[in-house]
Amino acid sequence: MIIATFIFYTLVVRSMNQHILNEVLKRGESVTNITALSVNQILLSGNFEEIDNTLLKLKNINDDIDYIAFIDITRKIISHTDLNKKGQRIRLAKFNQLKKNKDLIIHEKSDIFGNYFEFIKAINIKERHVGNIFVGLNKSLFTSIKHKTLKRLLIGFGAIVLVGIIGIIMLYTRITEPLKRLSMGMDKMKKELGINTVRIYSNYELERFTDEFNEISMLINLQKQNFINHTREMKEAYLSAVKVLASAIDARSPYTVGHSTRVSKLSMKLGEAIGLNEKELEELEITCLFHDIGKIRIPDNILNKREKLNSSEYREVINHPQKGAEILGMALSLQKYIPAVKYHHEWYNGEGYPEGLKKDRIPLFASIVTIADAFDSMTSHRPYRNALSELEAIKELINFSGKQFDPYLVEVFISILNKP
Ligand SMILES: [Fe+2]
Repeated sequence: MIIATFIFYTLVVRSMNQHILNEVLKRGESVTNITALSVNQILLSGNFEEIDNTLLKLKNINDDIDYIAFIDITRKIISHTDLNKKGQRIRLAKFNQLKKNKDLIIHEKSDIFGNYFEFIKAINIKERHVGNIFVGLNKSLFTSIKHKTLKRLLIGFGAIVLVGIIGIIMLYTRITEPLKRLSMGMDKMKKELGINTVRIYSNYELERFTDEFNEISMLINLQKQNFINHTREMKEAYLSAVKVLASAIDARSPYTVGHSTRVSKLSMKLGEAIGLNEKELEELEITCLFHDIGKIRIPDNILNKREKLNSSEYREVINHPQKGAEILGMALSLQKYIPAVKYHHEWYNGEGYPEGLKKDRIPLFASIVTIADAFDSMTSHRPYRNALSELEAIKELINFSGKQFDPYLVEVFISILNKP
């Protein structure tokens, strides 16, 4: 930034110097033109003694004019503001020519009389060159303006550099300080997460921050994987517990051993065939395992009675879906299984229990469990009858399709029954 500012400063100074020089030269040209015009008029009027007065007047009203002279074509000084030089011939001195055209020549001179710009303008009377006007403009005005401008520019650019440096320091602090704090925070977090690493860091904060970030990302991914594994293990443990519970309920009667697990498998096949997603299938599996949980409250003598049940015993048995719902209602996480458990003995035509729901009012999972439950019961031995064959059970499903069972689900169930 300092180098760029310096280059810019140099260019500005150069441009300013040129501008000041142009303005000073314009002023010198103006004085020279006025003088030449005045001398021209005097020469035409023939009043030659007026030339000295005119030149002196013009010099006196312009402080920075060193001299004005009228010199003839033989280089003899006809008139000069330094009257002592009158009649002498001008001496040639070294000069640097700044401008030359047919009307005006400008020299930059430096001699024992000082540093000045010399303006030379030809005097023509009736198109005859009779001499030249010489105007010496002291360079002190130019030097003084140049120095003043330079000083102001120096102060201005110094202020810009200072503001720039302060800005950079502030910006650096604003960027690196938060990064440092963030990095320290990450260190602390790593320690809290139990990761101790010995690292040699670069002095660059950004690089250090990137390293820390990568390490934390790795750590988060590791924790995420651990969490996924843990969740899967928890799910498996939960499902195992539910299976054990379902098996314990089924095992109370020798005729229902393995019933819930088989209902679960058949329901899953049916659920898959009608397009349930993975999460729904997981829920359906557990619903099936829970579907007869209400039987836990039915006494063994009723559950295993070989004879016909009396009315109160029958009421006890058909009350098991309601009781199952009550049991599941005790735990918030199990309440989602209640609809299927409570209504798995409802009939499609509304003749089921406990509420006599019809068609679409019956929850989908309940309708699925109803078919799987009935099919497994029909193909299993019962104290009051022998097991039906698969074909006989299918006939029963068809017979009761649209009565006890949802016709669409029966159709799908039969179609997938013997598929692997
Ligand atoms: Fe049941």
